[in-house]
Amino acid sequence: MTKNGRVKVGIIGSQFEADIHAAAIQMSPHDVEVVAVASPTPGNAAALAKRYQIPRVFTDYREMLKEPDIEMVTIAAPNWLHEQMTVECARAGKHVVCEKPLAMTIAEGERMIEETRRHGVLLMYAEELVFTPKYVKAKEMADVGAFGKVYLVKQSEKHFGPHSAWFWDMNRSGGGAFMDLGCHGIAFCYWFLARSPITSVYCQMGTHVHQDKTEGEDNCLCILEFANGAMGLVENSWARRGGMDDRIEIYGDAGVTYGNLHMGNALPTYSENGYGYAVEKAPSTQGWSYPVFEELWNYGFPQEMTHFARCVRSQETPAVTGEDGLVVMEALYAGYASAGEGRKIHLPYRNTNVKRPIDLWLQASSAGNGSAAKS
Ligand SMILES: NC(=O)c1ccc[n+]([C@@H]2O[C@H](COP(=O)([O-])OP(=O)(O)OC[C@H]3O[C@@H](n4cnc5c(N)ncnc54)[C@H](O)[C@@H]3O)[C@@H](O)[C@H]2O)c1
Repeated sequence: MTKNGRVKVGIIGSQFEADIHAAAIQMSPHDVEVVAVASPTPGNAAALAKRYQIPRVFTDYREMLKEPDIEMVTIAAPNWLHEQMTVECARAGKHVVCEKPLAMTIAEGERMIEETRRHGVLLMYAEELVFTPKYVKAKEMADVGAFGKVYLVKQSEKHFGPHSAWFWDMNRSGGGAFMDLGCHGIAFCYWFLARSPITSVYCQMGTHVHQDKTEGEDNCLCILEFANGAMGLVENSWARRGGMDDRIEIYGDAGVTYGNLHMGNALPTYSENGYGYAVEKAPSTQGWSYPVFEELWNYGFPQEMTHFARCVRSQETPAVTGEDGLVVMEALYAGYASAGEGRKIHLPYRNTNVKRPIDLWLQASSAGNGSAAKS
């Protein structure tokens, strides 16, 4: 029986990204509603539930999956849990929205795709840059020929490092700034270039600032080649002071456009006193700052959740899927191998000997190849 009405959602996780999911869904009141949240630390899920009037609270997400009315689950938990959570959601018959990166390993990503297919549920990959209004506008212009033949797509995302301890622990995250932020840039270039296959990846990376906190890289430059002849340049950092910075540049033989997600949508501000919140991960609001407004809308989070809910109702077709997430995983692997071996890596690339993508860099560079592990 086809269901109607708002899609009922359970959220796994209750901190940073879970809060964004809850807020974004509340901004999409016609299509979707959150009916439950699950998170293991006592009190955290309850606090999120209180903030967003979510009626049901669980400390074990498996209990939440038993709720028959929940149709879609969003996974806002650490990377190493994405696969097991997706598989259990699929077995419980729930459609899945999984946060980026898709998984820790290519094999995990493949299992997620297989299991969701087997159980006839959707696996939607929560890459919000595909919904970011400013970036969507750039793609719409490119698609009607505004820039002629696009030969270079640049995307960069940088800040001074993540908010939670697990990101810095490579056993739970799988990689540093490239894995955490480069997954956005790779997905963006791939989407912008209409899924032209990625043919090679070249990376240089290092740990320049946070050696005391992590064995992961805190800065990375990545060059992608695509089958259609275009190139991608993805820059990422956990070492960049001054809060979140997210921008794109698109170059074609007939034009160019630049998009600065945060500062381009901000009020250039000077304040002696400070004033509260400017932008994600900004350390202070005293002196010069660039406060954003409608931050979630500018990122595309409510648009993303509305779209995914409409996919569950078969009104739309997923714009970004588990398969897209897997393409990104393969490019991440190739990027770490490239930095480790000090050479361009041609795709397809798959290495089943590592449990964490970052080992492709750490193991090879400790053997004296590739870009320096520690500066
Ligand atoms: N799309 C984006 O721009 C974006 C931004 C930030 C984070 N993320 C992604 O979202 C995911 C979560 O990141 P975050 O920043 O919210 O991290 P976080 O540390 O702020 O929150 C992680 C949450 O996972 C929960 N969790 C841990 N173990 C669990 C378990 N066994 N069962 C259920 N819940 C569990 C924690 O209790 C916590 O609520 C990551 O994959 C991250 O890469 C995406």
